Amino acid sequence: MPDPRPLDPATLHPETLAIRTQAAVSGFREHAVPLYLTSSFRFDDAEHARALFAEEVEGQVYSRYANPNTDELVDKLCLLEGGEDGIVTASGMSAVFTAIAALVKAGDHVVSSRALFGSTHQLFTKVFPRWGVASTYVDGADTAAWAAAITPATRLLYVESPSNPGLELADLAALGALAAARGIPLLVDNCFATPVVQRPIPLGASLVIHSATKYIDGQGRVLGGAIIGRRDLVAECRFLARHSGPALSAFNAWLLSKSLETLPVRMERHCANALALARHFEGHPALEAVRYPFLPSHPQEALARRQMAMGGGIVTLTVRGGMAGARHVVDHVRLLSLSANLGDTRTILTHPASTTHSKLSPSERAAVGIGDGLLRLSVGLEHVDDLIADLDGALAGVPRDGGA
Ligand SMILES: Cc1ncc(COP(=O)(O)O)c(C=O)c1O
Repeated sequence: MPDPRPLDPATLHPETLAIRTQAAVSGFREHAVPLYLTSSFRFDDAEHARALFAEEVEGQVYSRYANPNTDELVDKLCLLEGGEDGIVTASGMSAVFTAIAALVKAGDHVVSSRALFGSTHQLFTKVFPRWGVASTYVDGADTAAWAAAITPATRLLYVESPSNPGLELADLAALGALAAARGIPLLVDNCFATPVVQRPIPLGASLVIHSATKYIDGQGRVLGGAIIGRRDLVAECRFLARHSGPALSAFNAWLLSKSLETLPVRMERHCANALALARHFEGHPALEAVRYPFLPSHPQEALARRQMAMGGGIVTLTVRGGMAGARHVVDHVRLLSLSANLGDTRTILTHPASTTHSKLSPSERAAVGIGDGLLRLSVGLEHVDDLIADLDGALAGVPRDGGA
C-alpha cells in the first residue's frame, strides 16, 4: 500500500531514518515489523524461480541468503554508518572472518593494528597463515608504520579503534587517506564505538565490521555481526557468506533491528556514565591508571575528540598489585556483573588477561598494554553513583603495597 503521507528522506537525520525504516507491513498494518520465521520463500512459477536465482529480479529466496528481518537490520545499519550495502552474520567473529576471507587469497598480505580482540588475533596468527595469508602488526596510532608495512601483496588494512581492551586509537582519517592513496580497502571494527560515537566510512573506511552482540543488542541477549560499506566489497562478502553459511537468524535480526532504534539514547547514557566513572576513579590510591578516550590523561585524547562524538562506554582500570589486586576487585564487587561480554545495560567487569585475552602469550599481552592488573569495565545504564559505590567498596580492600 503506498504511503499516504510520503516524506523526503533527505530531510531526516540518520537516527530518525533508522527508527522509521521498516522491512514490510502486511495487511494487518502492524506497527512493529513481524518476525519472518521461514527458512525459504515461495516462487510464483518456474520462470520466477529461474529469474530469482539468476539475480535478474529482486526477491527473497532462502534465509541463508537473506530474510526481511535481516534486510531491515542491514538497511538501518547502512543508514547509521553511511554505507552503501551490507550483510549481517551470526556473530561478530563470523563478520570479522567473512570480511577478511572474502578479500584475500593465498600469497596475500594484511596490515593490522596489533591491539585486537583476542579471537581476531587468533585468526591473523593461527588461521589465515594456514591458507598462505600473512599479516604484519603495527602500532595502530603510528600512521607512518602502517605506510611502511604495506607491500605489493597487501590486500587490506585492518584496525580496531578504540581497541579491546586497551582503548588504543588509530587516526581513521589518516588511515583512510593512506588506504585511498594505495588503493587498498580499510576495514574498521567499530564495535566499541558504534555509529553513534564514530562513523569510519565518511573518514575513509571501505568496510565497517560490528559485533552486534555488544551495543547494538545492548541488552546481552543475542549474538550477531555485520559488515557494512562499499557495494563491490560487500558483494564479495555476500558471495562467501551465501556459500559458507554464517547467516544471522531471523529472530536475532528482528531483536537487533528493534534494539538499534534505542542505540543513540543508550550510547549517550553509557558514555556519560563512563566519563563520570573514569573521572571519579582517576588518581584513586588503589589504581595505577584509569584509561578513557575523553580523559586528558589519555595519550590520544585530542584524536579521540576529533573522530569520536563521545568517549564510548568502556573504561579500563589498572589495579595496584597486578593479578592479585585485579582478582581482589573482581571478587569483591557486589553489583557489577562478572562476564566476558560488553555493551550491556548492566555494568560488566572483566579481567582480560585471564579471560578474553588469555590465549595471548604474556609478551603479546604486554605489547598491547594488557597487564595482569588491567580490568575492563563495560559501563552500563545503572545510576552512576551505585556503580561508583560498588567499585569504591571493592577497591578499598586492595593492598596498597602491591601484595596479595
Ligand atoms: C572488538 C570486538 N570485535 C569482535 C568481537 C567478536 O564478536 P562476537 O562475540 O559477537 O563474535 C568482539 C567480542 O567481544 C569484540 O570485542
